[in-house]
Amino acid sequence: MAKKKNKGPRASVSAESFGTFNKKADFKPRIVPKSEEATETILDKIKNVFMFSGLDEKELRIVVDAMEERSCFKKEVVIKEGDDGDCLYVVGSGTLSCTKIFKGDTEPTILKHYEPGEAFGELALLYNCPRAATIFSDGESTLFGLDRNTFNHIVKDAAIRKREKYEGFMKQVPLLEEMDDYERSQISEAFKDAKFSAGQQIIKEGDEGKEMFFLVEGEAFATKAIEEGKPAQEVKSYKTGDYFGELALLRGEPRAANVMARTECTCVTLDRHAFKRMLGPLDEILKRNQDLYIKYKKD
Ligand code: CMP
Ligand code: CMP
Repeated sequence: MAKKKNKGPRASVSAESFGTFNKKADFKPRIVPKSEEATETILDKIKNVFMFSGLDEKELRIVVDAMEERSCFKKEVVIKEGDDGDCLYVVGSGTLSCTKIFKGDTEPTILKHYEPGEAFGELALLYNCPRAATIFSDGESTLFGLDRNTFNHIVKDAAIRKREKYEGFMKQVPLLEEMDDYERSQISEAFKDAKFSAGQQIIKEGDEGKEMFFLVEGEAFATKAIEEGKPAQEVKSYKTGDYFGELALLRGEPRAANVMARTECTCVTLDRHAFKRMLGPLDEILKRNQDLYIKYKKD
């Protein structure tokens, strides 16, 4: 994980109140003319941007129509820490680096790298704050920029609601305690809700694993047949903040145990793609934790 000296900035700052500036009725979609091919390219690039995942087809089209392509040269600074910001970007091609100068430092710390299909520059638009970090193009790159006005009308409310919804819960997840507020808010953007009734099977041993789970509310437990021919027995119990279903994604193998809801359970899930992208930095911790399961292995 990138070196962190500080907790991430203002992920908990609440949204600006709605003023005349924000009135939905005044919204006139911005249309930047582009070919059908360019439209398709952008649609393809933004399909995995979690912030846009709740948008319907019509809203997505408004976003794409408003986007403007920008070419960057090597080392070009796209966003400068402390500046005002009026644009969010999605990477079309190339890679970019994100840096920040922490209090007491003179040299910037590299926070992360961006690849095609990833978005940055959303914080200034979400919270009306100066840019929280600097982002420059590693080599040549192309970006698709989305203006503040379109962002405000189409994306902002839902994005803030989602970030705030899981903010408290995320702090109770021991697995994520090494992450800063910013990284946690990014993860919560990728969460999908899942509810189970008491006694319902959440995971079946041997099935293909498509997602991992975090338990937000309720109690659950894992069962596994430890000895050949004997019925499955309880091997682990889960409470708020615990996770399960990571092994299948980590190892690319079928589910290694059953997980059942003991009471009514509210969970959030991360699919395979989000798991790789968001929890990649936690790979070592997840692998280390899986050793705790070994004594229950059948073989
Ligand atoms: P914004 O503040 O608008 O501009 C700088 C961007 O850097 C910010 O939005 C985020 O998209 C991105 N960023 C990546 N990592 C961090 C971090 N740890 N803290 C703040 N911003 C970050
Ligand atoms: P996964 O194999 O994806 O799905 C079943 C989950 O049960 C597994 O990930 C672990 O998160 C969890 N689990 C709990 N105890 C065990 C165990 N003894 N062996 C394997 N998985 C376990």
